[in-house]
Amino acid sequence: MDYQSLQIEISDGIATIWMNRPDRHNAFDETLIAELDDAFRALDDDARIRIIVLGGRGKSFSAGADLNWMRRAAGYTVEENLRDARALAAMLRSIDRAQKPTIARIHGAALGGGTGLACACNIAIATTEASFATTEVKFGIVPATIGPYVVRAIGERNAYRCFLTAERFDANEARRIGMVHDVCAPEAIDGRVHAVASSLLAGGPTAQGAAKQLIRSLVHRAVDEIVIEETAQCIANLRATPEAREGIAAFLEKRQPSWLDA
Ligand code: COA
Repeated sequence: MDYQSLQIEISDGIATIWMNRPDRHNAFDETLIAELDDAFRALDDDARIRIIVLGGRGKSFSAGADLNWMRRAAGYTVEENLRDARALAAMLRSIDRAQKPTIARIHGAALGGGTGLACACNIAIATTEASFATTEVKFGIVPATIGPYVVRAIGERNAYRCFLTAERFDANEARRIGMVHDVCAPEAIDGRVHAVASSLLAGGPTAQGAAKQLIRSLVHRAVDEIVIEETAQCIANLRATPEAREGIAAFLEKRQPSWLDA
């Protein structure tokens, strides 16, 4: 994989995607959007990879949409503008739909679309000096394509404040409202990401894919008879998979499951 605005590192089943436009604080233009979309899909399809981490080179995680790109887009036709916006929405969906667990490794600024990337990943870990905001209304726009992921993470009530005030807030506030899971000192971030990745590696890969699908299917649904039946069918189907047989047998036989054998 040869990318202009990304670097990919692969080690022990963990792929780290580094956004690499440090002079622009990893703001995303057409190239970075297309490359992120491609990288998430390719790594999700790569059998060597179990976990995908997203981080940023330089001072920031991501300063969101590239405002130069936004300015250019304002001069486009409606059709061209839509094509661009759909590419951004599709990139976020590719992150969200990945079968494999995803972790956002956040340091420095995570603004606008950067906040969106944090929310589109399954797990978000930030340093104490990270900052967040949905700044869009300051530019006369709205956090539209990132909206579904941010609202899903922080809920409607927090979204009103966040989207309407565009206030910047720190990592502890981000944790309080459910945007990030864990906050650590800047020098501890790679250790913390690795510790979470290690917990993820211990889980069954098929089970984790199914768990992600399960969560998606349950969001915002009342616990009615249909949901109860679907969850019963879900576990009944999974109990018989080779992975579940192996995982349960490994526990009972006091040994590691086969997916941990390198
Ligand atoms: N799009 C395009 N360029 C951006 C950018 C963005 N989203 N964010 C930063 N840059 C550029 C700056 O214009 C500047 O360019 P220059 O060197 O040609 O002047 C360069 O990156 C460095 O930014 P600067 O503001 O000087 O650095 P800083 O360390 O003081 O602040 C940020 C960094 C990210 C906090 C600040 O640039 C910022 O708030 N950016 C806007 C982020 C945002 O609101 N994004 C959402 C857009 S919808």
